[in-house]
Amino acid sequence: MNLNHWLSLAAGGGLAALLGLSAASCSSDTNNLPIDTCDPTVRAANLPCEGDAEVDRALLLLRAMSLEEKVQQMSGPAYNPNNMFDQETNERLGVPGFLYMDGPRGVRWYNSDYGTTVYPVAAARASTWNLALEEKIGKACAKEMRYVGRHILLAPTVNQVSHPRWGRAQESYGEDSYLLGEMGAAFIEGAQYDPTVADPNDPNTEVEDTYRVQACVKHVAANNIEDTRIHVNAVLDERTLREVYLPHFKRAVEAGVSCAMAAYNRVNGDYACYSQPILRDILKDEWGFKGYVISDWFAKGNTISSPPAGLDIELPFSSGSFPSIFESAYFYGQSLLTALGNGLVDEDLIDEAALRILYAKVHNGLLDHAPGWTPWLTKSEDAQELALQSAREGMVLLKNGPARALEDDVLPLDMDEINKIAVVGKFANSENMGDKGSSDAKVVDGELVITPFEGIRDAFSGETKSYTEVAGNEDKIGAADVVVIIGAYFYADLARSSSGEEGEWKDRESLELPQRDLDNIAAAIALKAQNPDLKIIVVAKAGGAIVVEDWIDDVDGLLMAWYAGMKEGTALAEILFGDVNPSGKTCQTFPVSEDDLPLFDNTNKEDVEYDYYHGYRLMDREGIAPQYPFGFGLSYTTFDYANLAVAESTVAKDGTLTVSVDVTNSGPVTGSEVVQLYVGFANTSVDDKWGRPVKTLEAFARAEDIAPGETKTVTMTVDVSHLAYWNVSAQAWQVEAMDYELFVGPSADGNDPNMLTGSFTVN
Ligand code: BGC
Repeated sequence: MNLNHWLSLAAGGGLAALLGLSAASCSSDTNNLPIDTCDPTVRAANLPCEGDAEVDRALLLLRAMSLEEKVQQMSGPAYNPNNMFDQETNERLGVPGFLYMDGPRGVRWYNSDYGTTVYPVAAARASTWNLALEEKIGKACAKEMRYVGRHILLAPTVNQVSHPRWGRAQESYGEDSYLLGEMGAAFIEGAQYDPTVADPNDPNTEVEDTYRVQACVKHVAANNIEDTRIHVNAVLDERTLREVYLPHFKRAVEAGVSCAMAAYNRVNGDYACYSQPILRDILKDEWGFKGYVISDWFAKGNTISSPPAGLDIELPFSSGSFPSIFESAYFYGQSLLTALGNGLVDEDLIDEAALRILYAKVHNGLLDHAPGWTPWLTKSEDAQELALQSAREGMVLLKNGPARALEDDVLPLDMDEINKIAVVGKFANSENMGDKGSSDAKVVDGELVITPFEGIRDAFSGETKSYTEVAGNEDKIGAADVVVIIGAYFYADLARSSSGEEGEWKDRESLELPQRDLDNIAAAIALKAQNPDLKIIVVAKAGGAIVVEDWIDDVDGLLMAWYAGMKEGTALAEILFGDVNPSGKTCQTFPVSEDDLPLFDNTNKEDVEYDYYHGYRLMDREGIAPQYPFGFGLSYTTFDYANLAVAESTVAKDGTLTVSVDVTNSGPVTGSEVVQLYVGFANTSVDDKWGRPVKTLEAFARAEDIAPGETKTVTMTVDVSHLAYWNVSAQAWQVEAMDYELFVGPSADGNDPNMLTGSFTVN
């Protein structure tokens, strides 16, 4: 199917002929259209009522469709070749089917000849706190989507990382709703950019005559456990759901996300795919979502209750090729047609769902532009540069020498003082870019992937040796001056093979590094006892926080690399040797012990209660000191914070607070600093069992490239309406009129000497 074919369908035997209109008049001459666009279907789909040409065009198609054709729009895909998900095309009317493709660490498409750019996982990208960079990554992914001819990128994942053992923690942006929402929105805005409009801020934009890629935010909602994801019932009270598990999805809707994917799990009893409170009441009615909701693949839905609950498309799993979606669908397709025939489902709901889908197809240019096929353009140098930049900025330096004082620093390494570096660990010199589930993007061209060993070897002018296993064979690293231990989890794959340690469908069993890595650390520590000059640097590759208490005091450095994508080794070497000054700040709290976290229940229990508190909010509330606070990360320089200023000491409930702070580089090298603003609720009068958090993140900014001695003023704004809590008895969001505390500093650590405090009043 190519563009010409679609146009000929539209202009010839297709819709236009059917309506006696030319293809052009379908989209432009709305005055002559014999339809009232303000009909209830348009309203139900939250679409604009006032003569919107795209709505009109979608409505024309809807009116021309039989019931069976509408149900076909709601069912798909028909087949799944080579990890692609294709919805059937409606040949009669020339309406193409949606072509889906997974994300979110790049475009998942690959075959044996081509691959795509593999970015660091979202946990690493969130640790950059760089929204502009995330937007560029979204945009670069959209370009690759067009090169491989797909419409809908199944990303971003914005599920709350309420516990770092969650197998897909790596795919999401961390533990804080605000950071999750902002990063997700940046990705969406990038991925959904309009390629037909030149970007005035980007001198290199090409104005392409093509379709717009759609992002799909997933998984709505409370999808936070892998092992039992297919059936677990997440039990959340109203405040927890609305204040902790949903706000980042709302942010995605505000960013204009086209598609939302309903999760596998149940939420307060019902499966997400027929959860009326989540999909219909909140997402569609309250937030005004005008996109469409798809099910996760083969997620449990229901023929009778999914349409009123607001599920627009069923995505069944089909590994073979089916002649029609009516054979691959489980609960829509033929079952839905039969239920309609028996009067069990209201036809208005079918109209609404089909209109949402058709509108997305019109609005994003699917009817006028057939997907192209230029896969050799994937992995452009620009895209690889973005992968490298996000690896550099997302790695978090957690420990550097015995104390947090520059004179004791061990990193960066001085090449002149080192003769031999040993790089140790199962994944020291092999590809491990994260799990091999649905987010398994692949590079294919092995030369382009830089492993930790390759990165260090290429950068270091002395001798570098890589060892897969050393425990029990410590002579191997005995002669080294520096040992870099790569501690990494074995990626899980969808086959759920027993070797998988973390990933989709596989929660981590503990927060400890795998035993083989602990053995290597112990071996290096034993050698250091004989040779105190030996430097031990641990590089952790994990999707979520790890615990380090048992060995951290005996090693010299700890760098959290997450899974940093195809350029991981290059970025790692640049940081180790000081070509890049680390600026990443962790998007998750690192606890001292798993006992400090809420219970993670991935046993076969049906009901799992989710708490209002996790991460730094829990640590604050319980007065527990974390190993490394949320938002924490070291630099090779130091920063001093001063002159916290609040533009207006009193703000209205619907107003905006403006705060500025001076950040001075007081150390020896240029560095970038992520400045964080938290608001405190000590004066709250909410006295239910949760009360209000000690503080929550409400704004942040990256101060880029501050030279030694230089001061930069950082200005941040807070939308006061974001300070609201969900008042259960009033069934409404409510901003408390009171004095609020303000905390501005380098992390969530209230005891950090750089944490400045202030206050403001909301009246
Ligand atoms: C995952 C989704 C993914 C889908 C299609 C599911 O198992 O949960 O995130 O988009 O498969 O691959």
